[in-house]
Amino acid sequence: MDFDLSERLRARRAEVPVDTDAYRVLDGTAWRGVFIDSLAERLLVSLRDVELPAALEEQLRACGLPVYLKRLDNDTKLPPRHILGEPLPPRFGVLENGITYLLDLSAGYSQGLFLDQRLNRAEVRRRCRRGMRLLNTFAYTGAFSVCAALAGAETTTLDLAQPCLSWCRENMALNGIDPAQHHFCKGDTLHWLERFERQGRRFDAIILDPPTFSRDAKGRIWRVESDYDRLVARAAACLAPHGWLLCTTNCRKLSHAAFRNRVAAGIPGAQLSPAPMPPEFDGENYLKGLWAQR
Ligand SMILES: C[S@@+](CC[C@H](N)C(=O)[O-])C[C@H]1O[C@@H](n2cnc3c(N)ncnc32)[C@H](O)[C@@H]1O
Repeated sequence: MDFDLSERLRARRAEVPVDTDAYRVLDGTAWRGVFIDSLAERLLVSLRDVELPAALEEQLRACGLPVYLKRLDNDTKLPPRHILGEPLPPRFGVLENGITYLLDLSAGYSQGLFLDQRLNRAEVRRRCRRGMRLLNTFAYTGAFSVCAALAGAETTTLDLAQPCLSWCRENMALNGIDPAQHHFCKGDTLHWLERFERQGRRFDAIILDPPTFSRDAKGRIWRVESDYDRLVARAAACLAPHGWLLCTTNCRKLSHAAFRNRVAAGIPGAQLSPAPMPPEFDGENYLKGLWAQR
């Protein structure tokens, strides 16, 4: 095995954008099922269907950084646990393109920021303008809302979970944005989209990045594989003329071609262009992403 962790860390630090300290270091390539993220000089090792390779453990110990370990194959979805180096406070900020996001290694299975969406967050910021209305559905900690708000957009952040909306407010405040100038909706995305459509409320941009499986407000099960076109159609009904959607999913059961067909069916006639993962995600190309421009 010729993988050299300290060499890889040096190379990655040089490759990622300036003012960025959260990025993927290893993407299941040197060892199948082994992933490493660098989060403000802490390393998060994620394992799927394998144990931590002894050779890697040695290199992790030698690098001197705090190391946390998480299992991706465990139904209990436990938070990461500290395994090596100096333990640091679980809540801390990371930088991405100069934007601060709050992470929390004790919050649960996810830490607050999906690193595979870095290019899409940057593109949202680039596309947004003062006064634009952006709806961020399935918003989690509201990272897309922060990018849009920094570009001057009026954002509406929507999630089922109240703690996610509070986390988004914290992320906004950390970046000098007043959350009181923005809107927050708690509840089911499909339910809110129906409501916005009835009310005649329209958006210039809508983000759709749902979990692969969810339940709607009436308890009906919703799956990305079968229902993404319905979600896109609901969102398209709330889109202003010349508006755009960002459609993404990490559902492995859906091929890139099938995903494209679903999006095209939901917003007929839209111009579709790819929304790729950052280059350091050089393992499995699991994230499907499309910009749909009216
Ligand atoms: C995959 S994460 C979204 C990640 C987010 N787009 C980002 O880039 O950070 C899924 C989020 O959807 C929320 N969620 C799940 N089902 C939902 C539903 N039916 N309506 C609204 N939010 C939902 C969860 O609470 C979670 O925060």
